[in-house]
Amino acid sequence: MISIEVVLSPVLLHLTDVTDSNVVVIDILRATSTICTAIHEGAESVIAVKTPEEALELKLKGYITAAERDGAKLEGFDMGNSPFECMNGAVKGKRIALTTTNGTKCIEAVSHAGARNVLSGSFLNLESLSDWLINDNQRVVLFCAGWKDSFNLEDTLFAGALGGLIHQKTGCLIDCDAALMSIDLYECARVDLASYLKKSSHYKRLSHLHHEEDLKYCLQHSVIHEITGLRDGEMKKI
Ligand code: MLT
Repeated sequence: MISIEVVLSPVLLHLTDVTDSNVVVIDILRATSTICTAIHEGAESVIAVKTPEEALELKLKGYITAAERDGAKLEGFDMGNSPFECMNGAVKGKRIALTTTNGTKCIEAVSHAGARNVLSGSFLNLESLSDWLINDNQRVVLFCAGWKDSFNLEDTLFAGALGGLIHQKTGCLIDCDAALMSIDLYECARVDLASYLKKSSHYKRLSHLHHEEDLKYCLQHSVIHEITGLRDGEMKKI
């Protein structure tokens, strides 16, 4: 029977037993938005690694390397963490080794926790992801990457959007205050998400780095239909 729980930060993950649940890793700006885009654009897989060194080792095995820290692309890598770097055929048929400030650490953290599935969540595939989770009809844990273990607005807003959509479609019980808060927060902001998020720390950080187009792109709802999940240690179309 489907149910919804929200983990607001990686430091709270240890309080939730994710065994046999469908865990949706959420890093809207931008890791999971970029992963969903890469798979949509025909990438064979995206492997989430914790360190730049691990990504560079995979270059020797033919992976494209993508690295970001504090919103900026790292020197010496093929890509940063912008979804736009995955477009125009740049990743078609390729395997990508990705390391980011928060999102890839979260994927790595839950990849060995006994989850039924580890999925990449984004506003971009909101509708198809809600339908996939409803169809699988299992416990859902919405895992917010946050920023360096702190709460952030954008990931929590997505948890509220996805949790609220599943609740609206199924009437499922929600016995998790973080989920109830996330749903209410999204209801407050949904009328104009971009304006609401202009005050958020990462929105300001990315704007300062001239990533305004990424912000607009990552807040689009349900423009991608593929479901991206962990298979054999890599994020793939499932
Ligand atoms: C993250 O991993 O926290 C984000 O993806 C950082 C970013 O790309 O700006």
